[in-house]
Amino acid sequence: MADLQILPATSEMVSEIVLLEEACFSAPWTRKMLEAELTGNPFAHFLVALRQDRSEGRAESEILGYHCFWIVFEELRLMNLAVRESMRRQGVGKALVLEACRLGSEQAATRAILEVRASNDAARSLYTHLGFMQVGRRPQYYTQPTEDAILMEKNPLVLSDWRQPERSVPLRR
Ligand SMILES: CC(C)(COP(=O)(O)OP(=O)(O)OC[C@H]1O[C@@H](n2cnc3c(N)ncnc32)[C@H](O)[C@@H]1OP(=O)(O)O)[C@@H](O)C(=O)NCCC(=O)NCCS
Repeated sequence: MADLQILPATSEMVSEIVLLEEACFSAPWTRKMLEAELTGNPFAHFLVALRQDRSEGRAESEILGYHCFWIVFEELRLMNLAVRESMRRQGVGKALVLEACRLGSEQAATRAILEVRASNDAARSLYTHLGFMQVGRRPQYYTQPTEDAILMEKNPLVLSDWRQPERSVPLRR
């Protein structure tokens, strides 16, 4: 069985992340934007969910998801999150957000915030599942298509009510 590892992204992973980004969003971040977050923004952190298959002598790895977030003093800002469509509902998104929250807490963040498209039921369910609550709405915030943003917050950012962060998750396939 392959295992999932949550690891910091590296510059060599950008091409694979760009493909995933383009497959998951109607208005994807460009390579330039992704590279700027990865290397040029002192507040930004970038994680990947890497599937590593070492069975039968293989040593293959594949990026199943990624998460970009900022830690700005007391605030953790969840910026971008995507999981490969064929690998959803296996805990990959949750593992990425939990690791971001753990790192934020470790660096003294006391609350977490994010914006999500109003129609994005999967993402809103994931954040609600992790204890985020709706705290506002920004009309027509998004383009392509135009849509309201829902502002969600986890405040205080406490990990005690969550299970231990899952840095290594067994995958079903
Ligand atoms: C949103 C997204 C990242 C979720 O990733 P994921 O790996 O499938 O989510 P998980 O398997 O970790 O889900 C954890 C929990 O979130 C909730 N959830 C996730 N997807 C859901 C869905 N499609 N419908 C209902 N609840 C969902 C469930 O409570 C789930 O727990 P369960 O499977 O035990 O019921 C993924 O759907 C995605 O990449 N979407 C496209 C990009 C995107 O919208 N990103 C978010 C931008 S804010």
